[in-house]
Formats: sequence, C-alpha cells, structure tokens
Amino acid sequence: MPKKVSRRSFLKRFFGTLLTTVGLSVGGYTYAGRIEPKLLKINKYQISHLDIPVDFENIKIIQFSDTHLGFQYTLEQLQELVEEINNHKPDILFFTGDLLDEPNKYGEFERVISILKKLEAPFGKYAVYGNHDHGGYGTDIFKRIMEESGFTLLLNDSIKIEKNAQSSIYLLGIDDAMLGRPDISAALANVPDEAYKILLSHAPDLADNAANFNIQLQLSGHSHGGQIQIPLLGALVKPPYGEKYYEGFYTVGEEKPLTLYVNRGLGTTRLPFRFLSVPELTIFTLSRK
Ligand SMILES: [Fe+2]
Repeated sequence: MPKKVSRRSFLKRFFGTLLTTVGLSVGGYTYAGRIEPKLLKINKYQISHLDIPVDFENIKIIQFSDTHLGFQYTLEQLQELVEEINNHKPDILFFTGDLLDEPNKYGEFERVISILKKLEAPFGKYAVYGNHDHGGYGTDIFKRIMEESGFTLLLNDSIKIEKNAQSSIYLLGIDDAMLGRPDISAALANVPDEAYKILLSHAPDLADNAANFNIQLQLSGHSHGGQIQIPLLGALVKPPYGEKYYEGFYTVGEEKPLTLYVNRGLGTTRLPFRFLSVPELTIFTLSRK
C-alpha cells in the first residue's frame, strides 16, 4: 500500500525543495559573480623535450592572459598579480592577449603601465595581441601600453633567447586570429628548424596549423576555459578559434607533435561570472628529457 502523504508533509517537502533551489541559485549566483572571479589558481608544470638545450634546464616561464581590465578585473587585482608573479621570480614572462576589455573606453593607461612596469624577468617580457586588444581601435593603445611597460610585442615575429653564448631557444608570436592577421611562416622566417620554439598565439585553435611547422610548444589564452562550466555539460561559451582547444594541455599533430597549453585567463568578458573555471596563472619549468 503506498504511503499516504499528508498535506502538511507535502507542503513541508515542497517548500523545502523550493528553498533549497532558491538557496542554491542565489548561492551559485553570488559565488560565480563575486567569489570565483577573485580567486587565483597557480598551476605549475614541467615541459620536457629533447630539443630543449641543457643550458635551459630549469628555466622558469610564467604565462598570464586575458585580464580584460575595465570589465570586471580591477587594477588592484592586477597589482596583486604582479606581486605574485615577481615572488615566483620568472626567467621569462609571457602575456597572451586581451589586456583591456574595451581599449577606447578605458582611461587608466598610465596606471596600467606603472603596474606592468614592475614585472621582472631577466630574459624578457613578451606579449601578443588578443582580439580585444585590436577591438575598439585598440591596436595602437595596446602596443603603447605593452612597450612602455617593458614588454616586447611579437607580431608575426620571433626573438632568439641566448644563454651562455652558445645555447638558444626561439620565441615566436603571431597576431590574433579574429581581428588580426596571424602569419606563422613570417614569424618563422629567421628561425632555424632544429631550434626549440615556443609560439605565443592568443587563439588556441591555430595549433592545428602551427603543428605543421615543427613548433614544440604553443601557449594560448582566449577561451577563459569556457568561463562558465556546467557540471556534466562542460564549457558554456567557446569563442571562435577557441572552440576545439579551450583549457589545459593538448597534443596536436602526429609526426612531430606540438604541445599546446590553453590558459584559462584572469578576467571575464560579456558576462561578469566565472564558474568552475578559476582564474589562472601558469608556471612552466623547462627540462630536457
Ligand atoms: Fe579574452
């Protein structure tokens, strides 16, 4: 005989479920809007490859990405981030695009420069354009901010990093895929094929093309790890050129595979929320296998 549910226990159960649902929604909303965007996860990885010269063993690289200043990420957060990065004493520093959310509407350029200037890396600070850095007539603004902050902007270009006069690796940087003109061949023009190469590309999905050029490592941003991840369903939003590869490590290509790492970035765009996609700072240590 099925148990008869009394009116009182039915109401109790109904309001209990309702309160739990509302509570979870309000809690989730507060968490995704106010708590998770302020967190910082520091991921540490070792990158091993036989092409890495012995002299580059234990070289420390830090990558940060997608701050989108002016939307939700604040100058105070940037200031704290810079202190955090300097505490880890990187040898090389990379910014993989999307510094300001809307460059032409942002008026604090000098403050951004004074903060980014404090970043220290003995082998240099390097940056590439993201789509938001080109958007809103941002191209020249981004160039000025990064160069005045001591960053070298790699625009379809490369730079040789030398250690102990006879050992070197190459850094390559390409333009953004959505609003720029990325050209991997141009970036490789002065790079010996046998060199260990690290490619910076805001857009992760360009890895499919990069894998044809004997590039060993690509570091990207852009996707924000989906920014909002729904349990069991995954990333809510995957932008163009960040649809196939949107978070973490991937191996791309077969003959000479490229290792791709997609950083989740630090800020937000379009929606001021992050859920199960905590802002990230990534520390890589190079190692010869
Ligand atoms: Fe972004």
